[in-house]
Amino acid sequence: MDHFLYRAGVLHAEDVPLADIAATVGTPFYCYSAATLTRHYRLFDEALAWGPHLVCYAVKANANLAVLKLLGDLGAGVDVVSEGEYRKARAAGIPADRIVFSGVGKTRTEMRHALQGGIRQFNVESEPEMVALDEVARSMGAVAPIALRINPDVDAQTHEKIATGRSENKFGIPISRARAVYAHAACLPGLRVVGIDVHIGSQLTSLVPFEAAYRKVGALAHELRAEGHAIERLDLGGGLGIPYERTNLAPPLPTEYGDLIRRTVGDLGCEIEIEPGRLIAGNAGILVSRVIYVKEGEGRDFLIVDAAMNDLIRPAMYGAHHEIVPLIEPAPGAPMRPFDIVGPVCETGDTFARARDMTTLGEGDLIAFRSAGAYGAVMASEYNARPLVPEVLVQGDHFAVIRARPSFDEMLARDTIPEWL
Ligand code: LLP
Repeated sequence: MDHFLYRAGVLHAEDVPLADIAATVGTPFYCYSAATLTRHYRLFDEALAWGPHLVCYAVKANANLAVLKLLGDLGAGVDVVSEGEYRKARAAGIPADRIVFSGVGKTRTEMRHALQGGIRQFNVESEPEMVALDEVARSMGAVAPIALRINPDVDAQTHEKIATGRSENKFGIPISRARAVYAHAACLPGLRVVGIDVHIGSQLTSLVPFEAAYRKVGALAHELRAEGHAIERLDLGGGLGIPYERTNLAPPLPTEYGDLIRRTVGDLGCEIEIEPGRLIAGNAGILVSRVIYVKEGEGRDFLIVDAAMNDLIRPAMYGAHHEIVPLIEPAPGAPMRPFDIVGPVCETGDTFARARDMTTLGEGDLIAFRSAGAYGAVMASEYNARPLVPEVLVQGDHFAVIRARPSFDEMLARDTIPEWL
């Protein structure tokens, strides 16, 4: 459930009519609901209430400082994958001992930065990275807490670009090598092993792959403990999917996911960490856009809108489906006809939907792309010299701009022309 509902025929974000926000900030814009973010975080927190745990929100899904502050104030930890995300988390007030650092290519500079500022754990993805982290930590007289990210060779049954748990993917240490690498870690004085990490992919709509992966992690934890390693924490990654299409079967609920974790690894008595991103932020955000033109083509009609692939790249990049709804609720039984919904960017890939049944819309009408709160604004670019769209946070009956639309002058000022030109 989210908080973007029609009231008296007008789409609202919580208690605010979205058209009011459009009138203030212009279109396109992203809008997030604080109540939905809160609800989704709590669902995970409650699903793991049977034991010690930390929900480490995956910052990559939506990295706005206001979103991070809101979640941090609820008690969330975070999963970061770059120095930039680490800095954002700290700037939003997340304590260092609630930050885990993931990613296949952490640089020594990033390691040093996180060790200086404080860190809960590094999720180490390869032996070369492990050796580098040991060197960096020792050079600082520090000891880095680590979990090794294991690649369990499990098919997450999701889009190939966001599946990460097969042996052919770049992520993690092959589970067959895990014991040897843990043995190596134990010999490195700059490191302290605290647990095991796994993440098999994103937008999973079944618990079956999670179960396969977590059983492997559970078995490995027993073996590693028998060999003397302190496995106190299990970081089980993110990945639980959301219903992008309301007509489809809904993905499993966080409670079912929490029960699965208890069933598969609960006996170990470890502190459980999870790294959900999409399920917390995805349906907590929408992208509002305005119809520029209705163009009747040969055999198909186009709704040309003022949002484009640079603002929301998921349809172009993954063929992703986003529900698109008018801000004024159509009358029951209003006639529908198919439109291609496209942006102004100069490539055919700038298509949000093909032959999507919509009620009649005209120039100036407002629409919303649903489920755009995760991997929306964070993946935006200024392609075609289109300034990044603003972000707005709603709470109850009030809203605030949490990232302003840059002016054209600001956009231009970022480039410099060398004096010798
Ligand atoms: N932890 C790690 C190590 C990850 O790589 C990811 C996502 C997550 C947690 C969070 O997964 P989530 O709960 O959000 O599924 N841009 C793509 C999604 C990329 C996901 C990358 N890693 C999209 O728009 O679908």
